[in-house]
Amino acid sequence: MTTEATTSTKKAAWTALAGHYEALRARHLRELFAQDPQRAEHFSLEAAGVFLDYSKNRITAETRSRLVELARACGLRERIDAMFRGDKINVSENRAVLHVALRAPVGASIVVDGENVVPAVHAVLAKMEQFATSLRDGTWKGYTGKPITNIVNIGIGGSDLGPVMAYEALRYYSRRDLTFRFVSNVDATDFAEVVSDLDPAQTLFIVASKTFTTLETMTNAHLARAWSVGGFGGDESSVAKHFVAVSTNAKEVAKFGIDTANMFGFWDWVGGRYSMDSAIGLSTMLAIGPEHFRAMLAGFHEMDEHFRSAPFEQNLPVLMGLLAVWYNDFFGAQTVAVLPYEQYLKRFPAYLQQLTMESNGKHVTLEGGPVASDTGPIYWGEPGTNGQHSFYQLIHQGTRLIPCDFIAFIESLNDLGNSHDMLLANVFAQGEALAFGKTAAEVKAEGSPDWLVPHRVFEGNRPSNTILVERLTPATLGKLVALYEHNVFTQAAIWDIDAFDQWGVELGKVLAQRIIPELDPASTGALTHDSSTSSLIMRYRTGKLKAAAAR
Ligand code: F6P
Repeated sequence: MTTEATTSTKKAAWTALAGHYEALRARHLRELFAQDPQRAEHFSLEAAGVFLDYSKNRITAETRSRLVELARACGLRERIDAMFRGDKINVSENRAVLHVALRAPVGASIVVDGENVVPAVHAVLAKMEQFATSLRDGTWKGYTGKPITNIVNIGIGGSDLGPVMAYEALRYYSRRDLTFRFVSNVDATDFAEVVSDLDPAQTLFIVASKTFTTLETMTNAHLARAWSVGGFGGDESSVAKHFVAVSTNAKEVAKFGIDTANMFGFWDWVGGRYSMDSAIGLSTMLAIGPEHFRAMLAGFHEMDEHFRSAPFEQNLPVLMGLLAVWYNDFFGAQTVAVLPYEQYLKRFPAYLQQLTMESNGKHVTLEGGPVASDTGPIYWGEPGTNGQHSFYQLIHQGTRLIPCDFIAFIESLNDLGNSHDMLLANVFAQGEALAFGKTAAEVKAEGSPDWLVPHRVFEGNRPSNTILVERLTPATLGKLVALYEHNVFTQAAIWDIDAFDQWGVELGKVLAQRIIPELDPASTGALTHDSSTSSLIMRYRTGKLKAAAAR
């Protein structure tokens, strides 16, 4: 509950930061670095094996203290404790938020509604391991007795992005004789292309859906069942060997025709975008094996413990979250670019988009009032160095401030030639160029004609974080994901919003359901939408008829 006292402390901390911003906004990173030769040391931190250099941010020690003061005033400590305790902090859905329980060690106790949930988490993990082992060693066979070699995960949102990202990120550790594919879009092309060269006799579908009612996933699951059963002459009993489900909804799983013995459960206190380490990660476990999956969970847990226990000034997710707030609300930056210099992390920015924006794209507070400031920045990104030859121009010389998170690894998993040095040279160079830029005097000194000088000036003072980790491993991936999960949590605490609901996706879903029957050219009911929507529907109906006549 927000009391009057906390409101006024928050206000005071916010006002102090606003004043501090006015004093700091004109200062250049060149000056801040020149003033403190140890700046890199003073603004960097290593925890859980993750090193963060945040010295190239437009902050001073005072900024850090004031941001931490804001976090305290916003009750971040109490909110962290409440989450780890299993309190129902997802207020609009009256749910606990316990992705941290998914990676809690066996002996831990986290109680929800009077029940320690940790044993149930480990029971599901054991079931997943048993299944993964039997599939990987060929004991689990398809309907005709052939081993399964193709695994297709059908899901969307959190039931897709985490599995896809983790598969790509940990591909180095994956079984190369197994094929992994992912179907998410309700566009049938997605499904058609994924199965086009697969043999039903060797293909297993994982239908991954927390609710087991999501339109896209259920549509694709039905296409998959028809395709699979079709491969066995229509024999429905093949489903038991070629479909498993990951869900919280046993009733719907059974209704779909999957034996609940082949269902891997999770719980309503796991949000979709926080679920890649639950049974939703079954495809990940099949790819990398149970041992690596456990290592990933241990990595998550290490970062959880750091977040739970480290003082805010030395807390990686807290500092990153506060920096995001600093740029979002004081500098008016609208986006954050996440730029992994690691090809295996190519889907990491896409994964983060759901995590960050479905969580913090909110316009009301926990109590339902309007938020006092802008919330959730837009997260986006692409792996380096590809982005350098595309959108970095705007980051360097555009008119918008885009804070960047660079992510790099000291060791390459594919150490060929001197590629890794080149990759790392580029990531270091980008942070340097953004921060320090190039003055007109420097450009002139290089012999540029006067008219060209303004075009070649880099004003610099563009902030970035650099995350440097030894090597991309399953544990590292767990740490990185947890780092961003808790970064998002920190931001939400400052804005006093519910980072765990997603009501904003509902309206479109409901309207689509209403429109589906209206797309039938034979439908006779009057269209009662706005004129734009109605005429689009009419045009589609007519087009469909024309296309059918031409066939
Ligand atoms: O897009 C809304 C959403 O509910 C996400 O939060 C979730 O990850 C996704 O849909 C998929 O939901 P489900 O796992 O229930 O199919």
